[in-house]
Amino acid sequence: MSGAQGTVQAVILAAGRGVRMYSELPKVLHRLCGRSLVERALRSVLGLKPVRVVVVIGFGAEHVRHEIEQLIGQGLFGSTEVICIEQLEQLGTGHAMQIALPALRSDAEEIVILPGDVPLLDDAIVKEFLEDFRLQHPALSVLSCTPPDAASFGRILRGKDGGIEGIVERKDCTPEQLAVREINSGVYAARYAFLRESLPSLRNDNAQREYYLTDIVSYGVSHGAKVVAHCSTAWERLLGANSRRELSELERMRRAELAGMWMDRGVTFEDPAAAYLEESVELGRDVFVGAGVRLRGATVIAQGVRLDGESWITNSTIGAGSHIKPGCVIEDSRLGADCSVGPFAHLRPGSELCDRVRIGNFVETKKTTLGSGAKANHLTYLGDASIGADVNVGAGTITCNYDGVNKHRTVIGEGAFVGSNSCLVAPVTIGKDAYIGAGSTITNEVPEGALGIGRARQRNIAEWTTRKKRHEGE
Ligand code: UD1
Ligand code: MG
Repeated sequence: MSGAQGTVQAVILAAGRGVRMYSELPKVLHRLCGRSLVERALRSVLGLKPVRVVVVIGFGAEHVRHEIEQLIGQGLFGSTEVICIEQLEQLGTGHAMQIALPALRSDAEEIVILPGDVPLLDDAIVKEFLEDFRLQHPALSVLSCTPPDAASFGRILRGKDGGIEGIVERKDCTPEQLAVREINSGVYAARYAFLRESLPSLRNDNAQREYYLTDIVSYGVSHGAKVVAHCSTAWERLLGANSRRELSELERMRRAELAGMWMDRGVTFEDPAAAYLEESVELGRDVFVGAGVRLRGATVIAQGVRLDGESWITNSTIGAGSHIKPGCVIEDSRLGADCSVGPFAHLRPGSELCDRVRIGNFVETKKTTLGSGAKANHLTYLGDASIGADVNVGAGTITCNYDGVNKHRTVIGEGAFVGSNSCLVAPVTIGKDAYIGAGSTITNEVPEGALGIGRARQRNIAEWTTRKKRHEGE
């Protein structure tokens, strides 16, 4: 039965170089709000539960394939089979479809075709389009729209009865055709049998000497097949990213949309246009996002967190009620509740802060855990360290974790007090409740409750200044 699960397959055309990007990177690997264009295209068809998705790759094939393999590795596609097929020469969208055809299953007759460069396309639009296709039951349906500027899109040609008769590319348009406002989004739904019949008919006798997929429309019309165009009102979602200008414009739109979505869920933005959130980020209620904040990757910001301006947070979790002051960089780290970090702190990968930890200005941490209530308020480097609860790390403390060959750990027991300007030469252990005298270089264990001092004893020379002056006057 048409419409049952298991009858849909999708093809994503992603082999083009993207000449107008002027880039060594294939166009579909350019990113928008943290996701590559090819990932976006793949996500937009997953809602259809296709049995198979064929991605046509070509320019930079190994890189695009690698990206898709990584997504497969992340389990993004569930039971959907995703196959990459290589178009060695990019002779046009029609040629790309000719290459894709043999990779499609002949037993799933509904084929949805997407360009790889329409990044705001979402699965709601694609689903609605497929529903209409099932309702009208044509051989081919084209998703069209009427944006304010028809730009470089192919124009939809309709006959006297209003039915679609063809698509003409902008470069092949007569002045009259250029004025047409209805454009081709590049998204199609077709029956497998119709593709098998129409694709071999394509010719490249056009302005770009390419095999245009769009020509299957006029083929269908002239061979008595039912061809329809489904005109969507959501034209903003159907815009292509053919150049960096277009990509940045679409990203701006998506960023505004994401900020709007989070505002609707209780997040305050100091300036939504100056917040850079990737798709994968999650924000709790009453979070405050300052201007210039960048939140990337798998970042989770819990309820009531305040993120002051200009902080960059990547793949990290920030616990409820914490305050990240201006200018912090936080990567691959976990913070508990009610922590305070910055201004100008750098939490590098593997930093784990329990609740109520305070990290002050010009402090760097790496592969370091800090127990509840621990503090390192000024000018400190803590690398490869385990720091217990309520430890106070004085200004200028350095864990000397690297001996030039290997990294070693520093362990500081709970409640210990490390005096300012101390060097802790790892591997070294400071016991619970121990004290380190300011300015010490600690190379041996300091037992629990002991005072460790490792510095030259102070000596005062009486009346030294008077004698010096007298000497200079001679
Ligand atoms: C295409 C359509 C145009 C439509 C527009 C919508 C054709 C001839 N034109 O134009 O009517 O308005 O999309 O965005 O189809 N690709 C391949 N192999 C190739 C050439 C292209 O896989 O040999 C892929 C590209 O990687 C891209 C997609 O097909 O993802 C569309 O190609 P592109 O060059 O961007 O076509 P447009 O000029 O945008
Ligand atoms: Mg395009």
